[in-house]
Amino acid sequence: MNKRYKSAVLLAGLLSLSGIAVAEESLLQAVVTPFRQKELVPVDNKQYQDECGSCHFAYQPGLLPSKSWEKLLNDKALSEHFGENAELDADTLKVIRDYALANAADKSYHKRSRKIAIAMENIEAPLRITEVRYIKRKHHEIPDKMIKGNKDVKSLSYCDACHTQAAKGVFDEDTVKIPNYPDWED
Ligand code: HEC
Ligand code: HEC
Repeated sequence: MNKRYKSAVLLAGLLSLSGIAVAEESLLQAVVTPFRQKELVPVDNKQYQDECGSCHFAYQPGLLPSKSWEKLLNDKALSEHFGENAELDADTLKVIRDYALANAADKSYHKRSRKIAIAMENIEAPLRITEVRYIKRKHHEIPDKMIKGNKDVKSLSYCDACHTQAAKGVFDEDTVKIPNYPDWED
């Protein structure tokens, strides 16, 4: 049991002993939740998941600030999306755009999103997550042969090639496996 969890149990115990009606469950939740919020909010919009997850992993909106999503999610930009045509009908575009803007890095309190939002302040918003300073810094030591030269990765844009729990919004180091390089850490 970690220390904070222990004190939460203790606190909940004390409160109920003292006769105060307390929902221990929700108190525990309030204390423990901040630990979970390190990672990203998983995608929970089916249209976004389907349309934006067909060519690559459906990036969580919390990986980019709203300024970036505004640039990416309009008719013109989508018709020339990194060399591909990713156009959407007007209704679908609206749903996806609203969803991305409402959940952008600058709207989230999750730690990783906060770091991304902060890295973006006062600079031109990038179109790529891989150009966010915080994300670049986390990957700059990985040799090119393990990314571009790796047939099962191809580019840093394919997050889920290495981050085995990317779809859950989890990017923790412990969950990374680089294909064809089982000993990348050595
Ligand atoms: C037709 C295929 C296709 C569809 C559909 C598509 N994309 Fe992409 N997307 C690409 C390609 C190709 C790249 C560039 C990958 C690379 O550089 O290796 C890309 C890159 C991106 C990047 C930058 C990733 C980076 O390098 O940091 C973002 C963000 C992105 N797409 C968001 C979206 C969103 C949001 C949608 C849904 C509206 C979407 N994409 C739909 C093909 C697609
Ligand atoms: C070639 C494999 C690979 C790809 C592709 C990749 N990553 Fe990573 N990523 C890593 C490795 C390895 C680390 C751990 C670096 C270290 O030792 O701290 C990492 C670290 C991270 C971290 C920091 C984790 C932590 O706990 O500090 C984040 C956030 C992250 N990656 C996000 C992404 C996102 C978002 C994408 C896609 C746009 C991506 N990564 C693509 C290999 C990859």
